[in-house]
Amino acid sequence: MTMTVKEFSGRMPSGLWASAEEAARALSRSKKVIIATHIDADGISAGAIASKALDRKGVEAEVRFLKKLDEDAISVLAKARRDIVWYTDLGSGSVSKLGETRTVISDHHVPDVSTGSGEKTGQARLFDFSPVLHVNPQLHGISGATDLSGAGATLLVALALDARNADLSHLGVLGGVGDLQDHRTRRLEGLNREIAALAVSAGVLEVVQDIRLFGRETRPVHKMLEYSSDPFLPGITSDEQAAISFLLGHGIELKDGDTWRTWAMLTQEEKDTVIDALREHLTRKSRRPDTILRLTGEVYVLKGEATGSPLRDAKEFATLLNACGRHGRGEVGLEICKGDREGMLQEGLALLRDHRSALSQAISLAKDLGVTRMRNIQYFDAGADIEETIVGTVAGMLLGEAGSDRSAPMVAFADSLECGDEPKAKASARGTQDLVSKGMDLSAAMRRAAETVGGVGGGHNIAAGATIPMSRKDDFLGELDRIVEEQLTSRARREG
Ligand code: C5P
Ligand code: C5P
Ligand code: ZN
Repeated sequence: MTMTVKEFSGRMPSGLWASAEEAARALSRSKKVIIATHIDADGISAGAIASKALDRKGVEAEVRFLKKLDEDAISVLAKARRDIVWYTDLGSGSVSKLGETRTVISDHHVPDVSTGSGEKTGQARLFDFSPVLHVNPQLHGISGATDLSGAGATLLVALALDARNADLSHLGVLGGVGDLQDHRTRRLEGLNREIAALAVSAGVLEVVQDIRLFGRETRPVHKMLEYSSDPFLPGITSDEQAAISFLLGHGIELKDGDTWRTWAMLTQEEKDTVIDALREHLTRKSRRPDTILRLTGEVYVLKGEATGSPLRDAKEFATLLNACGRHGRGEVGLEICKGDREGMLQEGLALLRDHRSALSQAISLAKDLGVTRMRNIQYFDAGADIEETIVGTVAGMLLGEAGSDRSAPMVAFADSLECGDEPKAKASARGTQDLVSKGMDLSAAMRRAAETVGGVGGGHNIAAGATIPMSRKDDFLGELDRIVEEQLTSRARREG
Protein backbone atom coordinates (compact mmCIF):
# COMPACT_ATOMS: atom_id res chain seq x y z
CA MET A 1 0.00 0.00 0.00
CA THR A 2 1.33 3.41 -0.86
CA MET A 3 0.77 6.60 1.04
CA THR A 4 0.90 10.09 -0.42
CA VAL A 5 1.91 13.17 1.54
CA LYS A 6 -1.68 14.38 1.24
CA GLU A 7 -2.96 11.19 2.85
CA PHE A 8 -0.23 11.43 5.45
CA SER A 9 -1.20 14.98 6.36
CA GLY A 10 -4.79 13.83 6.83
CA ARG A 11 -3.70 11.42 9.56
CA MET A 12 -2.83 14.09 12.09
CA PRO A 13 -4.83 16.84 13.83
CA SER A 14 -5.49 19.50 11.19
CA GLY A 15 -4.01 22.13 13.51
CA LEU A 16 -0.66 20.37 13.61
CA TRP A 17 -0.43 20.16 9.83
CA ALA A 18 -1.60 23.79 9.53
CA SER A 19 1.22 24.84 11.86
CA ALA A 20 3.75 23.02 9.65
CA GLU A 21 2.33 24.76 6.57
CA GLU A 22 2.55 28.16 8.22
CA ALA A 23 6.16 27.51 9.21
CA ALA A 24 6.94 26.33 5.67
CA ARG A 25 5.49 29.51 4.17
CA ALA A 26 7.66 31.68 6.40
CA LEU A 27 10.78 29.64 5.62
CA SER A 28 10.24 29.64 1.87
CA ARG A 29 9.97 33.44 1.91
CA SER A 30 13.34 33.85 3.61
CA LYS A 31 16.83 34.00 2.10
CA LYS A 32 19.11 33.13 4.98
CA VAL A 33 18.18 30.78 7.80
CA ILE A 34 20.13 29.56 10.78
CA ILE A 35 19.17 26.08 11.98
CA ALA A 36 19.90 25.34 15.64
CA THR A 37 19.56 21.73 16.68
CA HIS A 38 20.23 19.31 19.51
CA ILE A 39 23.39 17.18 19.60
CA ASP A 40 21.76 13.74 19.83
CA ALA A 41 20.61 11.32 17.12
CA ASP A 42 17.16 12.88 16.93
CA GLY A 43 18.62 16.39 16.80
CA ILE A 44 21.10 15.52 14.06
CA SER A 45 18.40 13.80 11.97
CA ALA A 46 16.16 16.83 12.48
CA GLY A 47 18.96 19.21 11.46
CA ALA A 48 19.66 17.13 8.35
CA ILE A 49 15.99 17.18 7.29
CA ALA A 50 15.80 20.95 7.80
CA SER A 51 19.04 21.69 6.00
CA LYS A 52 18.32 19.37 3.07
CA ALA A 53 14.81 20.80 2.65
CA LEU A 54 16.17 24.37 2.60
CA ASP A 55 19.04 23.41 0.23
CA ARG A 56 16.43 22.07 -2.16
CA LYS A 57 14.41 25.26 -1.86
CA GLY A 58 17.47 27.37 -2.61
CA VAL A 59 17.43 28.98 0.85
CA GLU A 60 20.86 29.52 2.38
CA ALA A 61 21.13 27.65 5.66
CA GLU A 62 23.75 27.06 8.29
CA VAL A 63 23.42 24.42 11.04
CA ARG A 64 24.58 24.89 14.63
CA PHE A 65 24.58 22.21 17.31
CA LEU A 66 23.61 22.94 20.89
CA LYS A 67 23.85 20.81 24.02
CA LYS A 68 20.96 22.78 25.38
CA LEU A 69 19.19 26.05 24.75
CA ASP A 70 19.77 28.76 27.32
CA GLU A 71 19.62 32.54 27.32
CA ASP A 72 23.21 32.91 26.11
CA ALA A 73 22.65 30.61 23.14
CA ILE A 74 19.40 32.39 22.28
CA SER A 75 21.12 35.76 22.23
CA VAL A 76 24.05 34.50 20.10
CA LEU A 77 21.58 33.13 17.55
CA ALA A 78 19.52 36.32 17.56
CA LYS A 79 22.65 38.33 16.83
CA ALA A 80 23.52 36.15 13.82
CA ARG A 81 21.02 38.32 11.91
CA ARG A 82 19.44 35.74 9.66
CA ASP A 83 15.88 36.09 8.38
CA ILE A 84 14.75 33.24 10.60
CA VAL A 85 16.17 31.10 13.39
CA TRP A 86 14.82 27.55 12.96
CA TYR A 87 15.07 25.47 16.13
CA THR A 88 14.78 21.73 15.60
CA ASP A 89 14.47 19.14 18.42
CA LEU A 90 14.78 22.00 20.87
CA GLY A 91 13.22 25.38 21.50
CA SER A 92 9.84 24.39 22.92
CA GLY A 93 11.20 24.38 26.46
CA SER A 94 12.28 28.02 26.03
CA VAL A 95 9.42 29.52 24.01
CA SER A 96 8.83 32.20 26.62
CA LYS A 97 12.45 33.37 26.37
CA LEU A 98 12.81 33.74 22.60
CA GLY A 99 12.08 37.45 22.40
CA GLU A 100 11.50 39.27 19.15
CA THR A 101 13.56 37.21 16.69
CA ARG A 102 11.60 35.64 13.84
CA THR A 103 11.60 31.99 14.81
CA VAL A 104 10.37 28.60 13.67
CA ILE A 105 10.39 25.73 16.17
CA SER A 106 9.83 22.10 15.15
CA ASP A 107 10.21 20.17 18.37
CA HIS A 108 8.56 17.59 20.62
CA HIS A 109 9.73 18.66 24.06
CA VAL A 110 7.30 19.86 26.68
CA PRO A 111 6.65 23.59 26.01
CA ASP A 112 7.45 25.95 28.86
CA VAL A 113 4.20 27.87 28.37
CA SER A 114 0.81 26.86 27.10
CA THR A 115 0.00 28.54 23.82
CA GLY A 116 -2.59 31.20 23.31
CA SER A 117 -4.79 30.83 20.28
CA GLY A 118 -2.67 28.16 18.60
CA GLU A 119 -4.28 25.20 20.29
CA LYS A 120 -7.75 25.89 19.02
CA THR A 121 -7.20 27.42 15.61
CA GLY A 122 -4.22 25.39 14.54
CA GLN A 123 -2.11 28.48 14.11
CA ALA A 124 1.56 27.85 14.68
CA ARG A 125 1.85 31.22 16.36
CA LEU A 126 2.29 31.44 20.09
CA PHE A 127 0.14 34.54 20.28
CA ASP A 128 -1.16 36.68 17.43
CA PHE A 129 1.60 39.23 17.99
CA SER A 130 4.42 36.72 18.51
CA PRO A 131 7.13 36.16 15.89
CA VAL A 132 7.42 32.49 16.93
CA LEU A 133 5.93 29.75 14.74
CA HIS A 134 5.64 26.62 16.82
CA VAL A 135 5.23 23.10 15.42
CA ASN A 136 4.91 20.68 18.33
CA PRO A 137 2.68 17.59 18.72
CA GLN A 138 2.09 18.39 22.40
CA LEU A 139 0.10 21.49 21.42
CA HIS A 140 -2.34 19.20 19.59
CA GLY A 141 -2.85 16.46 22.14
CA ILE A 142 -0.14 14.14 20.80
CA SER A 143 2.62 12.74 22.99
CA GLY A 144 6.09 14.03 22.25
CA ALA A 145 7.55 11.23 24.35
CA THR A 146 6.17 8.34 22.29
CA ASP A 147 4.36 9.48 19.15
CA LEU A 148 6.58 12.04 17.41
CA SER A 149 10.26 12.97 17.63
CA GLY A 150 12.03 16.24 16.90
CA ALA A 151 13.06 14.88 13.50
CA GLY A 152 9.44 13.85 12.94
CA ALA A 153 8.15 17.35 13.75
CA THR A 154 10.80 18.77 11.42
CA LEU A 155 9.78 16.35 8.67
CA LEU A 156 6.24 17.80 8.80
CA VAL A 157 7.66 21.22 7.93
CA ALA A 158 9.86 19.73 5.17
CA LEU A 159 6.83 17.96 3.67
CA ALA A 160 4.81 21.16 3.81
CA LEU A 161 7.69 22.86 1.98
CA ASP A 162 7.65 20.24 -0.77
CA ALA A 163 5.95 16.83 -0.94
CA ARG A 164 9.05 15.46 -2.67
CA ASN A 165 10.82 15.67 0.69
CA ALA A 166 9.04 12.38 1.49
CA ASP A 167 12.35 10.80 0.44
CA LEU A 168 13.74 12.18 3.75
CA SER A 169 11.18 10.27 5.82
CA HIS A 170 13.71 7.63 6.92
CA LEU A 171 15.47 10.45 8.81
CA GLY A 172 12.20 11.00 10.68
CA VAL A 173 12.26 7.31 11.63
CA LEU A 174 15.86 7.65 12.83
CA GLY A 175 14.82 10.43 15.19
CA GLY A 176 12.07 8.33 16.79
CA VAL A 177 14.32 5.29 17.13
CA GLY A 178 17.21 7.45 18.41
CA ASP A 179 14.97 8.83 21.18
CA LEU A 180 13.90 5.25 22.07
CA GLN A 181 10.30 6.02 21.15
CA ASP A 182 9.91 2.44 19.87
CA HIS A 183 11.13 1.02 23.16
CA ARG A 184 7.91 0.46 25.10
CA THR A 185 5.83 -1.46 22.54
CA ARG A 186 8.78 -2.66 20.44
CA ARG A 187 7.57 -0.68 17.46
CA LEU A 188 6.97 2.94 16.48
CA GLU A 189 3.54 4.25 17.42
CA GLY A 190 1.27 7.14 16.53
CA LEU A 191 2.55 9.64 13.99
CA ASN A 192 5.94 7.91 14.05
CA ARG A 193 4.19 4.90 12.51
CA GLU A 194 2.70 7.04 9.78
CA ILE A 195 6.17 8.43 9.05
CA ALA A 196 7.52 4.89 8.74
CA ALA A 197 4.67 4.08 6.33
CA LEU A 198 5.48 7.17 4.28
CA ALA A 199 9.15 6.14 4.18
CA VAL A 200 8.13 2.68 2.96
CA SER A 201 6.00 4.29 0.25
CA ALA A 202 8.91 6.51 -0.76
CA GLY A 203 11.03 3.36 -1.16
CA VAL A 204 13.62 4.34 1.46
CA LEU A 205 12.59 2.03 4.32
CA GLU A 206 11.61 -1.52 5.04
CA VAL A 207 9.76 -2.45 8.24
CA VAL A 208 10.62 -5.98 9.32
CA GLN A 209 9.53 -8.25 12.20
CA ASP A 210 12.77 -9.55 13.61
CA ILE A 211 14.96 -10.01 16.65
CA ARG A 212 15.41 -6.61 18.36
CA LEU A 213 18.90 -7.11 19.80
CA PHE A 214 21.43 -4.41 18.97
CA GLY A 215 23.90 -5.02 16.16
CA ARG A 216 21.88 -7.01 13.61
CA GLU A 217 23.98 -5.69 10.74
CA THR A 218 27.44 -5.33 12.21
CA ARG A 219 28.02 -7.63 15.18
CA PRO A 220 29.03 -11.28 14.83
CA VAL A 221 25.92 -13.20 15.94
CA HIS A 222 27.55 -14.57 19.08
CA LYS A 223 28.61 -11.02 20.07
CA MET A 224 25.07 -9.80 19.52
CA LEU A 225 23.83 -12.43 21.99
CA GLU A 226 26.69 -11.84 24.43
CA TYR A 227 25.87 -8.11 24.63
CA SER A 228 22.11 -8.55 24.87
CA SER A 229 20.53 -6.54 27.69
CA ASP A 230 16.92 -6.11 26.55
CA PRO A 231 16.00 -8.83 27.19
CA PHE A 232 18.76 -10.12 29.41
CA LEU A 233 19.58 -13.72 28.38
CA PRO A 234 20.44 -15.64 31.57
CA GLY A 235 23.54 -17.76 31.11
CA ILE A 236 24.32 -16.16 27.73
CA THR A 237 24.52 -12.39 28.28
CA SER A 238 28.11 -11.41 29.21
CA ASP A 239 29.42 -14.92 28.48
CA GLU A 240 31.03 -15.20 25.04
CA GLN A 241 31.71 -18.94 25.30
CA ALA A 242 28.12 -19.63 26.31
CA ALA A 243 26.84 -17.56 23.37
CA ILE A 244 29.07 -19.51 20.98
CA SER A 245 28.00 -22.91 22.37
CA PHE A 246 24.35 -21.92 22.25
CA LEU A 247 24.59 -21.10 18.54
CA LEU A 248 26.72 -24.12 17.64
CA GLY A 249 24.31 -26.29 19.63
CA HIS A 250 21.54 -25.20 17.30
CA GLY A 251 23.52 -25.86 14.16
CA ILE A 252 24.47 -22.26 13.36
CA GLU A 253 27.81 -21.82 11.59
CA LEU A 254 29.60 -18.85 13.16
CA LYS A 255 31.85 -18.11 10.21
CA ASP A 256 31.56 -17.90 6.48
CA GLY A 257 35.15 -18.53 5.35
CA ASP A 258 37.17 -15.99 7.30
CA THR A 259 34.34 -13.66 8.17
CA TRP A 260 32.21 -13.79 11.27
CA ARG A 261 28.57 -14.05 10.30
CA THR A 262 26.24 -11.29 11.44
CA TRP A 263 22.52 -11.72 12.11
CA ALA A 264 21.79 -10.09 8.76
CA MET A 265 23.83 -12.83 7.04
CA LEU A 266 21.78 -15.72 8.47
CA THR A 267 19.09 -17.34 6.35
CA GLN A 268 15.47 -16.86 7.44
CA GLU A 269 15.39 -20.50 8.53
CA GLU A 270 18.47 -20.02 10.72
CA LYS A 271 16.99 -16.85 12.23
CA ASP A 272 13.76 -18.68 13.07
CA THR A 273 15.73 -21.51 14.66
CA VAL A 274 17.69 -19.11 16.89
CA ILE A 275 14.61 -17.09 17.88
CA ASP A 276 12.67 -20.26 18.79
CA ALA A 277 15.64 -21.58 20.75
CA LEU A 278 16.04 -18.29 22.65
CA ARG A 279 12.34 -18.26 23.51
CA GLU A 280 12.61 -21.80 24.80
CA HIS A 281 15.74 -20.89 26.76
CA LEU A 282 13.99 -17.93 28.41
CA THR A 283 10.94 -20.04 29.21
CA ARG A 284 13.16 -22.68 30.83
CA LYS A 285 14.79 -19.93 32.88
CA SER A 286 11.29 -18.93 34.07
CA ARG A 287 11.28 -15.51 32.44
CA ARG A 288 7.92 -13.74 32.32
CA PRO A 289 6.00 -13.89 29.02
CA ASP A 290 6.29 -10.12 28.52
CA THR A 291 10.08 -10.39 28.87
CA ILE A 292 10.17 -13.15 26.28
CA LEU A 293 8.07 -11.01 23.95
CA ARG A 294 10.78 -8.33 24.05
CA LEU A 295 13.06 -10.55 21.97
CA THR A 296 11.29 -9.65 18.75
CA GLY A 297 9.41 -6.72 17.30
CA GLU A 298 9.71 -4.23 14.49
CA VAL A 299 13.08 -3.21 13.14
CA TYR A 300 13.64 -0.50 10.58
CA VAL A 301 15.92 -1.19 7.65
CA LEU A 302 17.25 1.65 5.48
CA LYS A 303 16.98 0.10 2.05
CA GLY A 304 19.55 2.28 0.33
CA GLU A 305 22.40 1.23 2.63
CA ALA A 306 24.75 -1.71 2.06
CA THR A 307 24.25 -4.96 3.97
CA GLY A 308 26.65 -5.03 6.91
CA SER A 309 26.76 -1.23 7.14
CA PRO A 310 25.89 0.34 10.52
CA LEU A 311 23.67 2.70 8.54
CA ARG A 312 21.33 -0.08 7.39
CA ASP A 313 19.71 -0.71 10.77
CA ALA A 314 17.98 2.38 12.22
CA LYS A 315 19.06 1.59 15.78
CA GLU A 316 22.71 1.22 14.77
CA PHE A 317 22.57 4.35 12.61
CA ALA A 318 21.13 6.31 15.54
CA THR A 319 23.96 5.11 17.78
CA LEU A 320 26.48 6.30 15.22
CA LEU A 321 24.80 9.71 15.22
CA ASN A 322 24.90 9.87 19.00
CA ALA A 323 28.59 8.98 18.83
CA CYS A 324 29.14 12.03 16.60
CA GLY A 325 26.96 14.58 18.34
CA ARG A 326 27.61 13.64 21.94
CA HIS A 327 31.36 13.99 21.33
CA GLY A 328 31.24 17.42 19.74
CA ARG A 329 31.11 16.34 16.08
CA GLY A 330 27.47 16.81 15.15
CA GLU A 331 28.45 18.03 11.69
CA VAL A 332 29.92 14.60 10.89
CA GLY A 333 26.57 12.95 11.62
CA LEU A 334 24.76 15.67 9.69
CA GLU A 335 26.78 15.08 6.53
CA ILE A 336 26.27 11.31 6.84
CA CYS A 337 22.50 11.88 7.08
CA LYS A 338 22.68 14.15 4.06
CA GLY A 339 24.44 11.45 2.05
CA ASP A 340 28.23 11.52 2.58
CA ARG A 341 29.49 7.93 2.41
CA GLU A 342 33.17 8.78 2.11
CA GLY A 343 35.32 10.77 4.54
CA MET A 344 32.54 11.73 6.94
CA LEU A 345 31.40 8.13 7.26
CA GLN A 346 34.97 7.05 8.07
CA GLU A 347 35.14 9.73 10.77
CA GLY A 348 31.76 8.67 12.07
CA LEU A 349 32.92 5.06 12.38
CA ALA A 350 35.99 6.14 14.35
CA LEU A 351 33.78 8.24 16.65
CA LEU A 352 31.53 5.21 17.12
CA ARG A 353 34.45 3.09 18.34
CA ASP A 354 35.42 5.82 20.83
CA HIS A 355 31.80 6.26 21.95
CA ARG A 356 31.46 2.53 22.69
CA SER A 357 34.56 2.47 24.82
CA ALA A 358 33.60 5.73 26.57
CA LEU A 359 30.21 4.20 27.46
CA SER A 360 31.59 0.94 28.75
CA GLN A 361 34.20 2.74 30.87
CA ALA A 362 31.52 5.09 32.16
CA ILE A 363 29.26 2.20 33.17
CA SER A 364 31.98 0.49 35.18
CA LEU A 365 32.90 3.78 36.77
CA ALA A 366 29.31 4.45 37.79
CA LYS A 367 29.08 0.95 39.27
CA ASP A 368 32.26 1.52 41.27
CA LEU A 369 30.91 4.82 42.55
CA GLY A 370 27.67 3.18 43.64
CA VAL A 371 24.14 4.49 43.56
CA THR A 372 22.59 6.31 46.53
CA ARG A 373 18.91 5.63 47.18
CA MET A 374 16.73 8.45 48.50
CA ARG A 375 13.00 8.05 49.26
CA ASN A 376 11.76 8.51 45.71
CA ILE A 377 14.84 8.84 43.52
CA GLN A 378 18.29 7.27 43.23
CA TYR A 379 21.45 8.99 42.06
CA PHE A 380 25.18 8.88 41.42
CA ASP A 381 27.63 11.71 40.90
CA ALA A 382 30.34 11.11 38.28
CA GLY A 383 31.98 14.51 38.74
CA ALA A 384 34.58 15.09 36.05
CA ASP A 385 34.87 11.39 35.18
CA ILE A 386 31.95 11.11 32.76
CA GLU A 387 31.16 13.65 30.05
CA GLU A 388 27.97 15.60 30.66
CA THR A 389 26.73 14.63 27.20
CA ILE A 390 26.69 10.88 27.86
CA VAL A 391 25.84 10.78 31.56
CA GLY A 392 22.12 10.49 30.70
CA THR A 393 22.76 7.51 28.43
CA VAL A 394 24.72 5.90 31.28
CA ALA A 395 21.87 6.54 33.73
CA GLY A 396 19.44 4.89 31.32
CA MET A 397 21.71 1.89 30.81
CA LEU A 398 22.17 1.37 34.58
CA LEU A 399 18.42 1.49 35.11
CA GLY A 400 17.97 -1.06 32.33
CA GLU A 401 20.46 -3.59 33.68
CA ALA A 402 19.32 -6.91 35.04
CA GLY A 403 18.81 -6.69 38.80
CA SER A 404 18.59 -2.89 38.91
CA ASP A 405 16.16 -1.10 41.20
CA ARG A 406 13.47 0.11 38.80
CA SER A 407 11.17 1.51 41.48
CA ALA A 408 12.76 5.00 41.36
CA PRO A 409 14.14 7.19 38.58
CA MET A 410 17.91 7.30 38.15
CA VAL A 411 19.54 10.72 38.40
CA ALA A 412 23.15 11.24 37.36
CA PHE A 413 25.43 14.23 37.82
CA ALA A 414 28.49 15.22 35.82
CA ASP A 415 30.50 18.42 35.94
CA SER A 416 29.32 20.79 33.25
CA LEU A 417 31.84 22.39 30.94
CA GLU A 418 29.65 25.46 30.70
CA CYS A 419 31.58 28.64 31.45
CA GLY A 420 30.01 31.27 33.64
CA ASP A 421 30.24 33.04 36.97
CA GLU A 422 30.11 29.82 38.95
CA PRO A 423 30.78 26.13 38.26
CA LYS A 424 27.75 24.20 37.03
CA ALA A 425 26.64 20.60 37.24
CA LYS A 426 24.70 18.71 34.58
CA ALA A 427 21.96 16.41 35.84
CA SER A 428 20.25 13.75 33.75
CA ALA A 429 17.26 11.71 34.86
CA ARG A 430 15.82 8.53 33.38
CA GLY A 431 12.64 6.74 34.47
CA THR A 432 10.53 3.73 33.55
CA GLN A 433 7.20 3.46 31.78
CA ASP A 434 5.75 2.02 34.95
CA LEU A 435 6.67 5.12 36.97
CA VAL A 436 5.28 7.39 34.24
CA SER A 437 1.99 5.54 34.33
CA LYS A 438 1.92 6.14 38.10
CA GLY A 439 2.13 9.90 37.53
CA MET A 440 5.86 10.61 37.48
CA ASP A 441 6.82 13.40 35.08
CA LEU A 442 10.57 13.99 34.99
CA SER A 443 10.24 16.96 32.67
CA ALA A 444 8.19 18.96 35.18
CA ALA A 445 10.17 17.63 38.15
CA MET A 446 13.60 18.46 36.73
CA ARG A 447 12.44 21.87 35.55
CA ARG A 448 10.92 22.84 38.91
CA ALA A 449 13.77 21.44 41.00
CA ALA A 450 16.32 23.22 38.79
CA GLU A 451 14.45 26.50 38.97
CA THR A 452 14.37 26.45 42.78
CA VAL A 453 18.20 26.36 42.83
CA GLY A 454 18.70 28.86 40.01
CA GLY A 455 19.18 26.36 37.16
CA VAL A 456 17.29 25.30 34.03
CA GLY A 457 15.77 21.95 33.12
CA GLY A 458 13.17 20.15 31.04
CA GLY A 459 12.61 17.29 28.62
CA HIS A 460 10.09 14.45 28.60
CA ASN A 461 8.13 12.59 31.27
CA ILE A 462 10.44 9.56 30.99
CA ALA A 463 13.78 11.32 30.40
CA ALA A 464 14.85 14.84 31.31
CA GLY A 465 17.91 16.93 32.08
CA ALA A 466 19.00 20.07 33.90
CA THR A 467 21.99 22.33 34.48
CA ILE A 468 22.33 23.76 38.00
CA PRO A 469 24.92 25.57 40.13
CA MET A 470 27.45 22.98 41.35
CA SER A 471 27.10 24.12 44.97
CA ARG A 472 23.35 23.40 45.02
CA LYS A 473 23.31 19.68 44.20
CA ASP A 474 22.00 18.63 47.62
CA ASP A 475 19.20 21.18 47.60
CA PHE A 476 18.33 20.12 44.06
CA LEU A 477 18.18 16.44 45.05
CA GLY A 478 16.01 17.21 48.08
CA GLU A 479 13.61 19.22 45.96
CA LEU A 480 13.51 16.61 43.18
CA ASP A 481 12.83 13.84 45.68
CA ARG A 482 9.97 15.84 47.13
CA ILE A 483 8.46 16.68 43.74
CA VAL A 484 8.60 13.08 42.51
CA GLU A 485 6.89 11.97 45.71
CA GLU A 486 4.21 14.59 45.17
CA GLN A 487 3.67 13.41 41.59
CA LEU A 488 3.39 9.76 42.56
CA THR A 489 1.15 10.31 45.57
CA SER A 490 -1.17 12.89 44.04
CA ARG A 491 -1.97 10.50 41.20
CA ALA A 492 -2.46 7.65 43.67
CA ARG A 493 -4.73 9.85 45.81
CA ARG A 494 -6.77 11.00 42.82
CA GLU A 495 -7.31 7.46 41.69
CA GLY A 496 -7.67 5.93 45.15
O1 C5P B 1 16.46 15.53 23.46
P1 C5P B 1 15.63 14.39 23.09
O2 C5P B 1 14.18 14.52 23.13
O3 C5P B 1 16.01 14.11 21.66
O4 C5P B 1 16.08 13.10 23.86
C1 C5P B 1 15.20 12.17 24.44
C2 C5P B 1 15.99 11.35 25.40
O5 C5P B 1 15.14 10.49 26.12
C3 C5P B 1 17.02 10.43 24.72
O6 C5P B 1 18.24 10.57 25.37
C4 C5P B 1 16.44 9.04 24.94
O7 C5P B 1 17.45 8.08 25.03
C5 C5P B 1 15.69 9.21 26.25
N1 C5P B 1 14.63 8.20 26.45
C6 C5P B 1 14.82 7.20 27.39
N2 C5P B 1 13.86 6.22 27.57
C7 C5P B 1 12.74 6.23 26.84
C8 C5P B 1 12.51 7.26 25.91
C9 C5P B 1 13.49 8.24 25.74
O8 C5P B 1 15.85 7.17 28.03
N3 C5P B 1 11.83 5.27 27.01
O1 C5P C 1 20.82 15.58 28.48
P1 C5P C 1 19.92 14.43 28.62
O2 C5P C 1 20.20 13.33 27.63
O3 C5P C 1 19.79 13.91 29.99
O4 C5P C 1 18.49 15.00 28.24
C1 C5P C 1 17.28 14.25 28.41
C2 C5P C 1 16.13 15.02 27.77
O5 C5P C 1 15.94 16.26 28.47
C3 C5P C 1 16.43 15.41 26.35
O6 C5P C 1 15.20 15.33 25.67
C4 C5P C 1 16.90 16.84 26.45
O7 C5P C 1 16.66 17.56 25.28
C5 C5P C 1 16.04 17.36 27.59
N1 C5P C 1 16.66 18.50 28.32
C6 C5P C 1 15.99 19.72 28.39
N2 C5P C 1 16.53 20.78 29.08
C7 C5P C 1 17.73 20.66 29.70
C8 C5P C 1 18.43 19.43 29.64
C9 C5P C 1 17.86 18.37 28.94
O8 C5P C 1 14.91 19.84 27.82
N3 C5P C 1 18.24 21.71 30.36
ZN1 ZN D 1 14.31 14.51 20.49
